[in-house]
Amino acid sequence: MIITDIIAKKRNKLELSTDEINFFIKGVTDHSIKDYQISAMLMAICINSLNKRETYDLTMAMAKSGSMLDLSEIPSIKVDKHSTGGVADAVTLALAPLTASLGLPIVKMSGKGLGHTGGTIDKLNSIPNFNTEIKIEKAIEQVKNINIVLMEQTQDLVPADKILYNLRDVTATVESIPLIASSIMSKKLASGADAIVLDVKCGSGAFIKDFDNAVKLSEIMIDIGKKAGKRTVAIITDMNQPLGNSIGNSIEVVEAIEILKGNITGKLKDIILVLGSYMLLLGNKTDNLDKAKLMLEENIINKKGLEKFRELIDAQGGNSNIIDDYSLLPCCKYKAEFISEYDGYITSIDTSKIGAACVETGAGRHKKDDKIDYGSGIILKKRIGDKIQKNEIIAEVFASSKEKIENALSVLSTAFSIGNEKIIPSNIILGILDNKI
Ligand code: URA
Repeated sequence: MIITDIIAKKRNKLELSTDEINFFIKGVTDHSIKDYQISAMLMAICINSLNKRETYDLTMAMAKSGSMLDLSEIPSIKVDKHSTGGVADAVTLALAPLTASLGLPIVKMSGKGLGHTGGTIDKLNSIPNFNTEIKIEKAIEQVKNINIVLMEQTQDLVPADKILYNLRDVTATVESIPLIASSIMSKKLASGADAIVLDVKCGSGAFIKDFDNAVKLSEIMIDIGKKAGKRTVAIITDMNQPLGNSIGNSIEVVEAIEILKGNITGKLKDIILVLGSYMLLLGNKTDNLDKAKLMLEENIINKKGLEKFRELIDAQGGNSNIIDDYSLLPCCKYKAEFISEYDGYITSIDTSKIGAACVETGAGRHKKDDKIDYGSGIILKKRIGDKIQKNEIIAEVFASSKEKIENALSVLSTAFSIGNEKIIPSNIILGILDNKI
């Protein structure tokens, strides 16, 4: 087979065979296909798309490009959760210990921040000494002992995705539905889960901006799950404003702990309860979503979720005293307030700009190797629909230099719209798709 013929076929809107897709991914993984050829292929896919069969073949070829984890040593059903990427999305930090405290074994591999979106690994690494680089044998041992591990993806998990993702990032080909679906599902299938709950973000802070495309992405991912024999539920959630109020790393850890302490309610907690309910259902911990929600709420009230988070931090070498004393977490020297120039209501928030402003504070990366400033970030004081007066604080900004503060404030100044009419923010859950196998 010749790669230029395969690229030309997709350029001409023709369907690729399973063998051609396997050839492409093999060449990506063993570096026999050059970056410029991979990039051309990615652009051809981005423009002309892949059908469901091609997307499934691409997913399986990617999943098999590295090692496929075998978690069968851990008894009971393993349910994995994945978010397509959002802003102020500290869900995993609270959801994982909460569901683990109800007997669901959690082996969760997460990533670092991507573009304007945050990453669970960066948030966890803001806890002093917390180790996220764990070998799979040790991870399995930890789950047998305390029912939970939160870790970075192992190096040999879907190596093809690492190569493709890095090229997508610099060739304007991230926002392709079959490429997003295969990237996410290949990692889920390779990480050995029995069932999958997907949080598909939709809106100004997500890779997918509109509802119809969020449905398409969800349909394709649950179809891949079905073909692979895994029950998969996709929950489409609103990302037209940051999910929680804290956007950064250590400040998101604090928000997650506050949820586990039962001190805060709101959209972040609502999503945790919905995703958690499906995880417990798919994991056979209950037969009913209403019961599942009550179980989760109970383990917030009785602090079992919080204590599971403490156990997790201890097991992974972190300082669990942060749970009782937030001053042990990294913080920043400079603080500024982003102030409203008008009276009115917050009518919309360009959430990707909030994420971008957060990167300017140092809480995210401009380049892959940038060092993160774990204590920096933004705390939102107003959300869509809130009344605001001139000179009132919309957000607080934390950074380690005045320059970073200024840069973040400048991005924030274009992120909020203020008008005269009170807007009712959209529901947090926009749709649920279930392959019901
Ligand atoms: N998250 C992923 O893992 N891959 C994508 O392509 C987009 C979001």
